[in-house]
Amino acid sequence: MKFNIKDIKLAVEGNKKIDWAESKMPVLRLIRRRFKKEKLLKNRRIACCLHVTTETANLVRTLKAGGAEVFLSASNPLSTQDYVTAALAKDGIGVFARNGESRKAYYENMYRVLKSKPEVLIDDGADLISTVHKKKIKGILGATEETTTGVIRLKQMERDKVLNFPVVAVNDSLTKHLFDNRYGTGQSTIDGILRATNILISGSNFVVGGYGWCGRGLAMRAKGHGAQVIVTEVDSVKALEARMDGYMVMPMADAAKIGDVFVTVTGDINVIRKEHMLKMKDGAIICNAGHFDVEIDKRGLVKITKKKRMIRDFCEEHTLKNGRHIYILAQGRLVNLAAAEGHPAMVMDMSFANQALAVEYILNNPRLGNRVYQLPLRIDERIAKLKLKSMSIKIDKLTPEQKRYLASWEIGT
Ligand code: ADE
Repeated sequence: MKFNIKDIKLAVEGNKKIDWAESKMPVLRLIRRRFKKEKLLKNRRIACCLHVTTETANLVRTLKAGGAEVFLSASNPLSTQDYVTAALAKDGIGVFARNGESRKAYYENMYRVLKSKPEVLIDDGADLISTVHKKKIKGILGATEETTTGVIRLKQMERDKVLNFPVVAVNDSLTKHLFDNRYGTGQSTIDGILRATNILISGSNFVVGGYGWCGRGLAMRAKGHGAQVIVTEVDSVKALEARMDGYMVMPMADAAKIGDVFVTVTGDINVIRKEHMLKMKDGAIICNAGHFDVEIDKRGLVKITKKKRMIRDFCEEHTLKNGRHIYILAQGRLVNLAAAEGHPAMVMDMSFANQALAVEYILNNPRLGNRVYQLPLRIDERIAKLKLKSMSIKIDKLTPEQKRYLASWEIGT
């Protein structure tokens, strides 16, 4: 099977939307131009497990321009854009993904990708890397990982000494998490909530579970819409930071009683549990923007539900046994990718520039150990410089005198 997609006829729509995203990805375009010239990925087989979006299509086209043979399956069953799979299939990419696929189909598609005998893996959430380890698949030179959640899993594998090849934690690049996690998740999560509900955020009590980079970005954007933002945390430093950033901080058990909208972005399980849902106000909206659909206890919700119905696309109404209504968005999966289109291309430009350069880094450094690596800072700086240039932003340069001052230790008070 060359590909497994919904409908090849959607390719025309897909190509137009991929072109639109490309127009907002100047850094990746420059990398693609160089890859095309240098052909440094010639005949390399690359397997990707990524959200199948217009932005991902641009990464895939960049790898292909470098001479690679690329295979792609989804990193979430609900984020796949079927028009993108069609366009990529027409390009000759081995794409195996359909929006709404079952868990079984999700893994079958991943196994099909792995049949290509890949040399490099590009992962989002570490499902592909963990599958390769469980199935004892050999021949992998290295991998890259996109997300905070995936990097946590991989660092655990490194600690347990079970990692079989080097992995570049793309998420740890400054030009990734400071922008994608913060501004990307911030905006696209609000976008997903609005598309699914069309609520007014202004004046609402907006509860953000987790104050990592994604939580910070989301809280900032909700505040910008005029919400009263409440942060829940387990980490004292982050909780303090949230308070000093101007938000209310309290345990979920207290937030549950007053929240209108709840979003989990912690990376951990059962952040919103049955005991919280039982305290929620009539009409409360709950959703998740963390990688896996584990942050809301969906089984717990079913146990306290009397009846349910889809009231809008991506918005399921639960009438509880206590008579109140709770609305869960996108089945508790990533609301920004399921109900909206994920992060905008402008920010994915930097994330995927990191991905493309991480693949190059792995191939140029065959002596890396079986560890989790961060990309060198000079690569981060190069991406930031190119992004600034694309935005026509100029910055100052250190004068020779300033350089000397920074390099010295003698000059003090
Ligand atoms: N992760 C978050 N947003 C994304 C997007 N637009 N494309 C691919 N992966 C993403």
